[in-house]
Amino acid sequence: MTGWPLSYLQSAGPAASPVARLAWGLGSVSVAVVLIVGVGLIAAIWRRRPSADDPMSLVPGASSASGIGWIYVGLAISVPVLAICTIWTLAVLGKVMHPASAPHLRLQVTAHQWWWEVRYPTSNSQQTFTTANEIHIPAGEPVEIVLNSADVIHSFWVPKLGGKMDVIPGITNRTWIEASDPGRFRGQCAEFCGAQHAHMAFYVVAQPRAEFDAWVADQLAFPAKGASPSQVVASGERVFSARCAACHTVSGTPAGGIVGPNLGHFASRSTLAAGSIPNDADHLRKWIADPQAIKPGVRMPAVPLTTADRDAVVAYLESLT
Ligand code: CUA
Repeated sequence: MTGWPLSYLQSAGPAASPVARLAWGLGSVSVAVVLIVGVGLIAAIWRRRPSADDPMSLVPGASSASGIGWIYVGLAISVPVLAICTIWTLAVLGKVMHPASAPHLRLQVTAHQWWWEVRYPTSNSQQTFTTANEIHIPAGEPVEIVLNSADVIHSFWVPKLGGKMDVIPGITNRTWIEASDPGRFRGQCAEFCGAQHAHMAFYVVAQPRAEFDAWVADQLAFPAKGASPSQVVASGERVFSARCAACHTVSGTPAGGIVGPNLGHFASRSTLAAGSIPNDADHLRKWIADPQAIKPGVRMPAVPLTTADRDAVVAYLESLT
């Protein structure tokens, strides 16, 4: 089932596995009920038909075999099964409410139409950074997710790592996720939030602790600098400052807009436009040229740029590793 990134029938961590087992259990009970009722119905249809020779057999209740006994049989079977399902469900809800140990990492996730802002706060206020649509976590540790919305109601959901949690304007909700092993897990907004609800995806990247710490150290290095800051990159930065910085921040540079995602370390992310397209130079060029063609309704306008300026901005952004 690895080819089904949004399947909740397979779990990859302790916040999701009790839910996955419950889903299989309740699903099996439901299938069994449908089979039993179906077979019973077919048997009833074929068992004995009213006889034309005995007109009274066509009158409901006129026969001595009223079948009331079957109601008692049905109740005796279904009541204990439903009671077990209810208790099991409540036990699972209680179990996934809190992780076994208190999380060391608490992430601030803000939902926007239609992307995810992820803030990594630390005890040192100088040591925070913000990223978008890609959440890195250490594997084998619970991570608390503090959820806020900037506009409408969304829902945070990483099916393999935990259940859904609504993200509601004016309310702070909390949930937690944990990946038992390193891996990459798809998440998705699970509450209809407008035209591009379906394109409000994100990824959770679970890494071994040392690798995660190295990633954090990288993200804290501002400004991000590519391997070879070339002339075209420098010119791209100038174009970006003049045309894009009103909406986007690039940490460590004067660009400080807060409408769109923070693009510091932009090139380290794997997708663009909240999981809509891969993050590479080709797709980025098309995205900047006409965002509406890729994600109709997206807040990002098509900023008129010459081909040379657009290529320079692409080179600059792709240098922010
Ligand atoms: Cu956000 Cu649906």
